[in-house]
Amino acid sequence: MTFAHRHLLGIEQLSPQDITTILDLAETYVDLNRQSAKHCDVLSGLTQINMFFENSTRTQASFELAGKRLGADVMNMAMQASSIKKGETLIDTAMTLNAMHPDLLVVRHPHSGAVDLLAQKVNCAVLNAGDGRHEHPTQALLDALTIRRAKGRLHRLSIAICGDIAHSRVARSNLLLLGKMENRIRLIGPPTLMPSGIGEFGVEVYDDMRKGLRDVDVVMMLRLQKERMDGGFIPSEREYYHRYGLDAEKLALAKPDAIVMHPGPMNRGVEIDGTLADDINRSVIQEQVEMGVAVRMAAMELLTRPLTTGAAV
Ligand code: NCD
Repeated sequence: MTFAHRHLLGIEQLSPQDITTILDLAETYVDLNRQSAKHCDVLSGLTQINMFFENSTRTQASFELAGKRLGADVMNMAMQASSIKKGETLIDTAMTLNAMHPDLLVVRHPHSGAVDLLAQKVNCAVLNAGDGRHEHPTQALLDALTIRRAKGRLHRLSIAICGDIAHSRVARSNLLLLGKMENRIRLIGPPTLMPSGIGEFGVEVYDDMRKGLRDVDVVMMLRLQKERMDGGFIPSEREYYHRYGLDAEKLALAKPDAIVMHPGPMNRGVEIDGTLADDINRSVIQEQVEMGVAVRMAAMELLTRPLTTGAAV
């Protein structure tokens, strides 16, 4: 099993083989995480620092738990209250932490590209926990593991990604990953929430959800990213739910065994019906959370192994 990357900055840099390597290793951690004794010493003696410049509950908790279960010393930096507020730059903060010899930096930042920049300045492994509208690689990997376990494969599936595509790093990373694994991807959403020129990327684009959902294997819903909107992208939340909210009636157009996904946090009654989200026969939203810890454990293990070749990213 080779994995010749120093950082996990995005899906863009990964090959299909890299993706399979991470998912296969994550499977062993799914098993470990289901045991009563969940600890191992793969990262024993190593230091992991979580730097979240943007609010996050589930992703930060998931990375923290992943590091602790691997035996690392894990520190959470409260970046909201840190010296960034006193005028220190991102790079100054990174260099200060770098001088303390961490082995892993887990970084979430509201600006696209900020994590890549930081990775160039430090001499430890950097994991992107979401940067602006750019990438959220561990989310796409945990989604891939969830799909592979539910469907028995991760290729030649018909997958609909629905909603606020334009503001979503989750959509972007998933598009890259699912495309690399040779799936058929449909993007469904209002034209105001669709990035321009997206049709050229080998995906099918729909603004009619009822047409777009027809016969798909996977329905991936996205949160309406209100905090990343600076204008009126939708007429009203009620109207949005009517046209693009996933409910049992719209889901009935997909394959009878189609699964429902959402990265969380959910706006119930805006992009998804609450009852459907909780329906364990269709929704794999809780599995996604479970797979998140396992995938992050796998990624951190692979990044802290000595490099076998000279690859830089
Ligand atoms: C996603 C994110 O932050 O990009 N959430 C997450 O990682 N828990 C999706 C979202 O915020 O909608």
